[in-house]
Amino acid sequence: MDPATVESLLRGRFGRPYIYREQCDTTQELVRGLPEGAVAAADEQTEGRGRRGRSWVAPAGTAVLFSLSLRPRIAPDRLAAFSLVAADAVCAAAGPEAAVRWPNDVIAGGRKLAGVLCELREDQLVVGVGINANLGESELPADTRVPATSLQLLRAGPVDRAAVLADVLWELEVRYDRYVERGFEGLERDELLGRTVRLAGGRSGPVEGVDEVGRLVVGGVAHSSAEVESVDV
Ligand code: BTN
Repeated sequence: MDPATVESLLRGRFGRPYIYREQCDTTQELVRGLPEGAVAAADEQTEGRGRRGRSWVAPAGTAVLFSLSLRPRIAPDRLAAFSLVAADAVCAAAGPEAAVRWPNDVIAGGRKLAGVLCELREDQLVVGVGINANLGESELPADTRVPATSLQLLRAGPVDRAAVLADVLWELEVRYDRYVERGFEGLERDELLGRTVRLAGGRSGPVEGVDEVGRLVVGGVAHSSAEVESVDV
């Protein structure tokens, strides 16, 4: 994950400049204030953040942990779906088994491979990505909401984390440019499509897709993440 290695693998604008720390509190703060395309990565975070105030923990040197700085010139209400687009980009780099579990998990074989956390502050959208990379079965966190998996398990061997990072940045760049030009065009790999979800208030129904602003469509009605309680009742 050192700068010389990662920079030699970059194919586009994203990852320039590239900031790397062996350890930091969270890459979400390291990238604050930097221009579009800047990436901060670390081997270890002491205060890694997940969605909904949860923490994100990964043993040192085992994960791909980074935050990308974007400065999209589009209305904030059009940005909500970008975390889905980012999750699709992670899937494309991770391999054919990976799919997006709305609203932000990357799942392979029913287990969580990666997570995406988008934070908007003024005109900067920080896209944080954490991918379980070189973790064996016994090293995976046991007490997670969704059981975890890793690229190492999927590919039956250790992976080059710098190459994974460069691949994800390229997939992100392609999709970001399309998103800015055309808006959200739907999920490429939707793990929930056709599955039953339970909604707040006790109703449940099969998932029909995701609408143009990234809400989950169930029974013809679009729902935010606060309204969806669980999957597969
Ligand atoms: C989630 O699934 O809840 C989102 C997890 C996002 C974790 C990544 S790791 C890199 C970046 N820095 C953080 O503190 N969080 C994101």
